[in-house]
Amino acid sequence: ADEPLVLGIETSCDETGVGIVRGHTLLADAVASSVEEHARFGGVVPEVASRAHLEAMVPTIRRALKDAGVAASDLDGIAVTAGPGLAGALLVGVSAAKAYAYALGKPLYGVNHLASHICVDQLEHGALPEPTMALLVSGGHSSLLLTTDITSDVRPLGSTIDDAAGEAFDKVARVLGLGFPGGPAVDRYARDGDPKAIRFPRGLTGPRDPVYDFSFSGLKTAVARWVEERRREGADVPIADVAASFQEAVTDVLTRKAIRACKDHGVEHLMIGGGVAANSRLRAMAQRRCADAGIELRVPRPKLCTDNGAMVAALGAEMVARGRSASDWDLPADSSLPV
Ligand code: KG4
Ligand code: ZN
Repeated sequence: ADEPLVLGIETSCDETGVGIVRGHTLLADAVASSVEEHARFGGVVPEVASRAHLEAMVPTIRRALKDAGVAASDLDGIAVTAGPGLAGALLVGVSAAKAYAYALGKPLYGVNHLASHICVDQLEHGALPEPTMALLVSGGHSSLLLTTDITSDVRPLGSTIDDAAGEAFDKVARVLGLGFPGGPAVDRYARDGDPKAIRFPRGLTGPRDPVYDFSFSGLKTAVARWVEERRREGADVPIADVAASFQEAVTDVLTRKAIRACKDHGVEHLMIGGGVAANSRLRAMAQRRCADAGIELRVPRPKLCTDNGAMVAALGAEMVARGRSASDWDLPADSSLPV
């Protein structure tokens, strides 16, 4: 096949990811996570992440090449997350990508982290329709992005004005004593709870509020207050009901605004990506509401929704396929890179 063979490196947060793809085909997806080293701090510690990337970088690249069964000399390019993300963490990946690309004589492609979260869906469902509306929900982002050309035209319509959706899951999990990262635990407990037990606030859904922006900090505070009140009264905290009711409030707002964005812009495809896209209630609610609205929903499998190198390789391969120019050797790691 003459589809581009690309290796992608992702180090924007706490996962050292190295993926290899051929066009839309996933060949390897090696991930080394430092999440356990951060757990006792209740959040990602940038310096700890940078050091972990440094230690994991070369072994993870070797593992990906071995898993894919390809020789580095056969690669058509090396792609790397240039931003946004933690500055020191990004720098490790960008430096490694430059070193490998230069030594192997391959073109280097610096890519945007958010665009790669969208592009990864090509590995699951084939070519991404353009335009596609993307709802990106992770520990660091909650954004609605109108994607007209995945390599060059991804327009942010709105984003969170305070906490990211995943951050809200993590904070509520902490209030409930469920550990870090909290999303998967809240998801699990919520399965046995009643989503209508407590009516928590839906942020920025009033008639005068910005239509595509999100706000989750009021919701997080409301949950914390509700739980504190119960404890003060000496009553048991119904963890499953709180988890389910909180999760319902988040997923209700996310899906409602995403579908509104599709309708307003005449877009018939919605993709959901980022770590929170692993949430079972979000997936079910989006499925239902998209079907009702006549919108095709695309959500990659959970392993491709969280940070990984395959998504970077997927976008790199798309850049090669579309003849986009390679990055210069002085490609910077940019912690606030815009899409
Ligand atoms: O995309 P990701 O791996 O890293 C970032 O770029 O942030 O997302 C991690 C976030 C965490 O906040 C985690 O709690 C959340 O995704 N998450 C979930 C679920 N699985 C992971 N949130 C809700 N439900 C889940 N099942
Ligand atoms: Zn991410």
